[in-house]
Amino acid sequence: MKLLVCGGAGFIGSNFVRIRVRDHGDEVVVLDKLTYAGRRENLEDLDVPLVVGGIEDPEKVAEALGDGVDAIVNFAAETHVDRSIAEPDAFVRTHAVGTYVLLEAARERGTRYLQVSTDEVYGSIEEGSFTESSPLQPSSPYSATKAGADLLVASYAHTFGLETLICRGSNNYGPYQYPEKLIPLMVLNALHGDPLPVYGDGQQVRNWLYVEDFGRGIGHVLAHGTPGEAYNVGGPDECTNLEVVRRIIELTGAPESLLEYVTDRPGHDRRYSLGSEKVRALGWEAQVRFAEGLERTVRWYQEHEDWWAPIRSGDFRAYYERQYGRSLS
Ligand code: NAD
Ligand code: TYD
Repeated sequence: MKLLVCGGAGFIGSNFVRIRVRDHGDEVVVLDKLTYAGRRENLEDLDVPLVVGGIEDPEKVAEALGDGVDAIVNFAAETHVDRSIAEPDAFVRTHAVGTYVLLEAARERGTRYLQVSTDEVYGSIEEGSFTESSPLQPSSPYSATKAGADLLVASYAHTFGLETLICRGSNNYGPYQYPEKLIPLMVLNALHGDPLPVYGDGQQVRNWLYVEDFGRGIGHVLAHGTPGEAYNVGGPDECTNLEVVRRIIELTGAPESLLEYVTDRPGHDRRYSLGSEKVRALGWEAQVRFAEGLERTVRWYQEHEDWWAPIRSGDFRAYYERQYGRSLS
């Protein structure tokens, strides 16, 4: 299969490209704006062409599509909730205008289109799990603009008969995740002896999905999904944030005294949970339990200082100071 992977230089996108090239022999072209989160080195070991540009730029999209592809898979997004609270602008542009430009390009060419989305579009749930027919009730500028993109995708299937698919993943973790997110942030702070900033009471619950399981799930939906449908792809285990941080303390051997409760995130969603029966019925199953995946992830960060050192000594420091009101060591 020939794929255009938008946002393929980011965390999940680059893991997906690796799976497609190595395990499926796919031909892949990546279109990525290389924001702070998009990094060439995430694709360094792969021989895939990278077109640098935004999905909101129709000329770059046309360049990346070249003579045509079998499908467009769109990971391109601004992905950090805290940044969407501080500066929502890019979230609106990329998720609304960017998704629209890609959909138009897909419609002109009659190309199958898969939108990578998130459990956050459903909002928070105290008990039970969301299904694909649950209402979208997003609560942050990140999740609201992602939900808007999902609705636009669905409208292109309904109105124009475009072959669209939506994959809503739960919280991903694994190699190549930018250290603004909970797990890599805590792992790197623990390795450096920096405080581990837990928002609020730390009792928020997330449903953890190993990034390779999500990548396989997206491939599965692309091959076997019914056009026009959305599929939840949830992880096998849920865990409170405090429990995640305690496990990281154990795995890294950091002192418990690093744990620090800090001011809560405004509008913080309490719990996310996805029911994934629909994608399971297509034959997908998560393979990596949280305990094993977290161990693998901690080991990857311990062994890849070459990957994270330039990030942690670069612009990330200024972001960290703004967000946490203190410096990194
Ligand atoms: P990421 O921030 O690591 O990567 C995003 C990538 O998109 C980067 O390479 C960035 O350069 C690129 N990008 C941003 N704006 C762009 C634009 N306008 N044009 C082209 N490229 C652009 O994010 P991620 O965690 O890999 O998330 C990928 C997708 O998966 C997103 O759509 C996100 O909403 C979704 N998702 C993420 C999670 C998670 O836990 N990380 C869970 C479920 C779904
Ligand atoms: P995050 O990785 O930002 O993902 P999301 O908000 O999209 O679920 O955060 C995961 C959880 O961890 C979330 O409840 C917020 C919390 N969190 C902290 O407690 N401290 C932190 O420094 C960060 C980044 C997140």
